[in-house]
Amino acid sequence: MINWPAKASPFIRPIGAERSAECAAIHATSFTYPWQEADFEQLFVAPGTFADGAIEAKEEHLAGFILSRIAADEAEILTIAVAPEWRRRGIATSLLKPHLYGLAAIRVSRLFLEVDAENTAARALYENFGFEQVGERKAYYRTAGTELAAALVMRRDLL
Ligand SMILES: CC(C)(COP(=O)(O)OP(=O)(O)OC[C@H]1O[C@@H](n2cnc3c(N)ncnc32)[C@H](O)[C@@H]1OP(=O)(O)O)[C@@H](O)C(=O)NCCC(=O)NCCS
Repeated sequence: MINWPAKASPFIRPIGAERSAECAAIHATSFTYPWQEADFEQLFVAPGTFADGAIEAKEEHLAGFILSRIAADEAEILTIAVAPEWRRRGIATSLLKPHLYGLAAIRVSRLFLEVDAENTAARALYENFGFEQVGERKAYYRTAGTELAAALVMRRDLL
């Protein structure tokens, strides 16, 4: 039997629909308008979906995930989220690295995403990975208040 430390580092591997409930639970802790388990089930079986999870080693729980959709030689990160108790431990970084390599390996040449302009954590993460702002959609996201938040469109070339 392996004696795992209390918080052994998660390992990264591709995930599928069997993780839908866990993805929905993490999404609910991360966004004002979370996606439901059924939304994830649909995404996982849709053509072009590409997803990786950070799996906590001891109990095999999901600590975070990233989900992209591929169309021709482009892809879009649809969502990335890390469970609150695992944040600031390098999990999103560990997810993005193999995810980007994996997309490049199947000849995806450009990766896009949209991020809430006020989400400083996510913007810093993406900038670390060389994403650059290529557009802005004003009044795009519903927020908990009455204001609509702007979305920044970011791009990173992979090939
Ligand atoms: C954004 C998110 C995925 C980052 O996950 P994480 O595992 O904590 O990120 P990491 O530990 O890999 O951090 C990588 C870098 O991101 C930036 N970052 C992460 N959290 C940050 C925070 N709270 N404030 C400022 N910068 C932050 C830093 O540049 C950090 O590098 P550093 O630790 O060397 O300073 C996580 O905060 C999350 O799930 N947020 C809610 C969902 C969300 O906003 N997703 C993005 C939607 S576009």
